[in-house]
Amino acid sequence: MGQFVNNYKRKQLKLQRIVNSHAQDIISSANFKKSRGFIQHGDISVHKHSLAVARASLRLSDNLERLGIRCHKRELIRGALLHDYFLYDWHDKNRPDFRPLHGFHHAGTALRNALQEYDLTDREKDIIKKHMWPLNPVPPMCREAWIVTCADKYCSTLETLRGYRLRLQHITTRNNRGVS
Ligand SMILES: [Fe+2]
Ligand SMILES: [Fe+2]
Repeated sequence: MGQFVNNYKRKQLKLQRIVNSHAQDIISSANFKKSRGFIQHGDISVHKHSLAVARASLRLSDNLERLGIRCHKRELIRGALLHDYFLYDWHDKNRPDFRPLHGFHHAGTALRNALQEYDLTDREKDIIKKHMWPLNPVPPMCREAWIVTCADKYCSTLETLRGYRLRLQHITTRNNRGVS
């Protein structure tokens, strides 16, 4: 088990180094760092989620490459990092610009925010705008956007399940304390 965890961490570190090499400007920017303060799923921040989606997208594209399906890695990584660049706490119903149904409109907000700071390619725009497919019904038009939409769903599911597990642990601990 220890060996498995070490291998996993080593692979994640390697993927993260590649992500950094293509997007140091995004990762070191003030707004991207600001996303550490916004929760995405469970106890995972938007910052952590976006990095996880970029690594998962890269891993998926490496697997596809072994099958002869190549993709534009730099655009894949940059689009993945910016896919949730909405820059607000979507759980906070008291914020002045609150709009319900975050799931339906945040891809558009993320794209608008990203365009204010970066010169995006058409692929990067497609990745950000379409990542909520099928909730946003217009499907991705490039393979990089398909990869990110799959990686996003994979990471979001794991993060949400982790959130449930932590909540269950918290309730169990609290109940046990009440019993003793
Ligand atoms: Fe999203
Ligand atoms: Fe996401």
